[in-house]
Amino acid sequence: MSQTKQHNAAPDPHTFAQPQSAVVTHLDLDITVNFETKTISGCAIYTLAANLGVTEIVFDTNGLHIEQVQLNDRTKTAYHLGEEKPFLGRPLIITIKPNTHQVFIWYSTTHTAAALQWLTPEQTSGKKYPFLFSQSQAILARTWLPCQDSPGIRFTYRARVQVPPTYLALMSAENPQQKNSTGLYTFTQNRPIPAYLMALAVGDLKFKALDERTGIYAEPDQLEVAYQEFTQLPTMLAAAENLYGNYLWGRYDLLLLPPSFPFGGMENPMLTFVTPTIIAGDQSLTSLVAHELAHSWSGNLVTNATWNDFWLNEGFTVYFERRIMEAILGKDYADMLKVLGYQDLQNTLAELGPESADTCLKLNLENRDPNEGLTEIAYEKGNYFLLALEEQVGRAAFDDFIRNYFQEHAFQAMNTEYFISYLQEKLLLQPNFSNEQVQPEAWIYKPSLPDNGPKLNSKLFASVQEQANLWQQNIPAKELPAQNWSTQEWLYFLHLIGPDLNAAKMQELDQEFNLTNSGNSEILAVWLEYGIKNKYEAINITLKQFLERVGRRKFLVPLYKQLIQQNAETAKQIYRQARPNYHAVATSTLDVLMDNVN
Ligand code: BES
Ligand code: ZN
Repeated sequence: MSQTKQHNAAPDPHTFAQPQSAVVTHLDLDITVNFETKTISGCAIYTLAANLGVTEIVFDTNGLHIEQVQLNDRTKTAYHLGEEKPFLGRPLIITIKPNTHQVFIWYSTTHTAAALQWLTPEQTSGKKYPFLFSQSQAILARTWLPCQDSPGIRFTYRARVQVPPTYLALMSAENPQQKNSTGLYTFTQNRPIPAYLMALAVGDLKFKALDERTGIYAEPDQLEVAYQEFTQLPTMLAAAENLYGNYLWGRYDLLLLPPSFPFGGMENPMLTFVTPTIIAGDQSLTSLVAHELAHSWSGNLVTNATWNDFWLNEGFTVYFERRIMEAILGKDYADMLKVLGYQDLQNTLAELGPESADTCLKLNLENRDPNEGLTEIAYEKGNYFLLALEEQVGRAAFDDFIRNYFQEHAFQAMNTEYFISYLQEKLLLQPNFSNEQVQPEAWIYKPSLPDNGPKLNSKLFASVQEQANLWQQNIPAKELPAQNWSTQEWLYFLHLIGPDLNAAKMQELDQEFNLTNSGNSEILAVWLEYGIKNKYEAINITLKQFLERVGRRKFLVPLYKQLIQQNAETAKQIYRQARPNYHAVATSTLDVLMDNVN
């Protein structure tokens, strides 16, 4: 059906499932969320399609307790859990019969469910109720429900979720807009999605509509600020549709999570999850919302077939995100985002090294945690490749190409090899265009960057560059015309002056611009990193509070790395204190960093 269409496609190295033999098409999930035991338990009923003569179906599990498996007639069937593999968990192998079209898997989660974060009341904004959320991408869905956890396998779902009364439950599906007194909620996702887009959140949540098809869910005391920050959402959605075709998912809502959410955002269908660290008070960090929205096409409609093709999800999404921002805020704004992205790309290339295979767009993550593929390469090199294509063929032709690409492959998986052949057929081998000039294989299969990428310029950054030069020639901070700088101009300035300052220099900037008390998390995170490096002690209290409150991995990793370098004991002490507030996705990375200390 809607499985990977491409023949001879390489199998997904991160699943035990064997979709060529037996594959799921629909899920009926019936679960209870228990905040006392911090477990989810219930039954996953899968509808399946099996080839003739096939006697078993294989699911992914990781740390799940399987209680019982039944076939459609509710008769018990034989099953067993296979050997545990690093990162992947264990296959659940179920014996099926020729007439089997459904399997019932009774299960419960355990404390090792890495997707789930169970927050205490103190870790929420309201401080009264606990909170639960899931983060399934890349291969953590299998830690909270048995599933065929491969991005190339799609299924529709319905769910009945029992939570304690007084809580609202939400999923990546059609959602309730208010609590009911029973705590029993039902969900429908009529469009086939891969398992990594399964999502659940439970807490004291309220809804406020932005327009007929968009709105915000947040804890009650956060709802109004969130609403004010995200008023652009309807305009973004209209801009996105105008670029690349109708939004095919019905509603698009945002869920504002507590600050321990490990990512900036997660594109759960119909309900993007976002970190509260993008609330800056001035809508200056909302390109992240444009990014998650763009995934409704790149990623959720046309889905990377395996995590080795991750750049197809993220590279297209970064490109699309900036097109949305250009449409709503203009070219100068989008140009700043592109230049900042290019700086990030250069930093990542320098970190990984010019020969590193991890700087190829097409990755090889076999026997590795797909988390390791989560670098700026997929995002910013992917985007830069698409910018090169845009430049070569012209924006009008490129937009037509993308629109058709989404339309022709909607609800399907896409792999890199098929993408190249599609690109050549539709664009590069057409008269007027040239494969030689673009060299897609060099971009995709070779490390580092080809030299035919476009030159990126930002008008607004030109003057920031001058100011950074003057600052480095020691003009006093009060002569910098920075009072009216946007967030992006500040970030550019900070990147240009770099971390090699000293405490006196930092103090001078701080006195003038109060950066230590910045309410902008992106600016603050860079500033704190510089502060650690320069032993600028005025940041210490803010730094500790930030690390104890915020669980966003992108901020934590550079801060802890810098802390470890400067003062390993302090790093360990703060980490010990802060760790209970972090999601497993963050602790799995940070534990390794900390273990390497000494
Ligand atoms: N889908 C990603 C988050 C993700 C990727 C989670 C891989 C787990 C594995 C999401 O769309 C994303 O890219 N988020 C970014 C923000 C974006 C603006 C670059 C993030 O969280 O920082
Ligand atoms: Zn993304």
